[in-house]
Amino acid sequence: MKLGVLSDIHEDFNRIKAKSDIMSILSKWITMKRPDVFIIGGDMTDNPNKSLALLNQLQKECPDTTILFVHGNHDIYDQSSVNAYETLLKFPGNLGNGVIELNDDWVVIGDGGWYDYSYGVPDYSKSDFKKGTFNKFTWPDKFYANWAESDSDVVGRYTLKLSYWLEKYRDRNIVMVTHFVPFAKYVEYKNEPSWDFFNSMMGSEKFGQLAEKYNVKKYIFGHVHKRYHEQHNGMEIICNPLGYYPHEWTHDSAEEEITSTIKMIEI
Ligand SMILES: [Fe+2]
Ligand SMILES: [Fe+2]
Repeated sequence: MKLGVLSDIHEDFNRIKAKSDIMSILSKWITMKRPDVFIIGGDMTDNPNKSLALLNQLQKECPDTTILFVHGNHDIYDQSSVNAYETLLKFPGNLGNGVIELNDDWVVIGDGGWYDYSYGVPDYSKSDFKKGTFNKFTWPDKFYANWAESDSDVVGRYTLKLSYWLEKYRDRNIVMVTHFVPFAKYVEYKNEPSWDFFNSMMGSEKFGQLAEKYNVKKYIFGHVHKRYHEQHNGMEIICNPLGYYPHEWTHDSAEEEITSTIKMIEI
């Protein structure tokens, strides 16, 4: 069984900046390569309705592939991120709706997740991270993402939901998916306060702890716009973001960048 993996498509940004129809390129690739499943690891657009429309369209254009999705921080930009989350659940392949059984052995378990400052450098306090401003830059989620609870309570909600599913399917081979980073290893520390401060917003070690507890075989995430594909803690790690044109791309053309970036993994 073949699983295609890509995250951080940022369709709205990249379509405009790279002057390319990102979704047609993606749709063409899926139709040609025909993976059984295509997993989109969040940050499709900056708006839940737009992300939902693009996902529905992509699934319609690629009926032979099951499109699976978890939301990123950008997808839930809304006056109420709770409403945005609900909107995105209307996409049948949203993993927030429940566990996907690929076959008798393998299941996919995931949801977007969030961050709880567990990767924050010790020089700053929780209230600094809560404000999210360093020098004059404020982390955009502080303006555009609006949950009803604190960031760590949001993570608590996700870990509760994920641990329930993981427990239920603990005897299966599990592919786990979140948008946010599960292990500190994949958070880059540059020794520059203006960068390291924002590592607090990269994810939560709680997701990694769950993955280890339930012996997850493959872990897919995004959010950090840096690509990884390796073994870590006994699991295959796939972080495969498209990222922003042009500085995070290695090719000038969207077609080349997308087709060379998509990972195909086998189970
Ligand atoms: Fe992103
Ligand atoms: Fe993100």
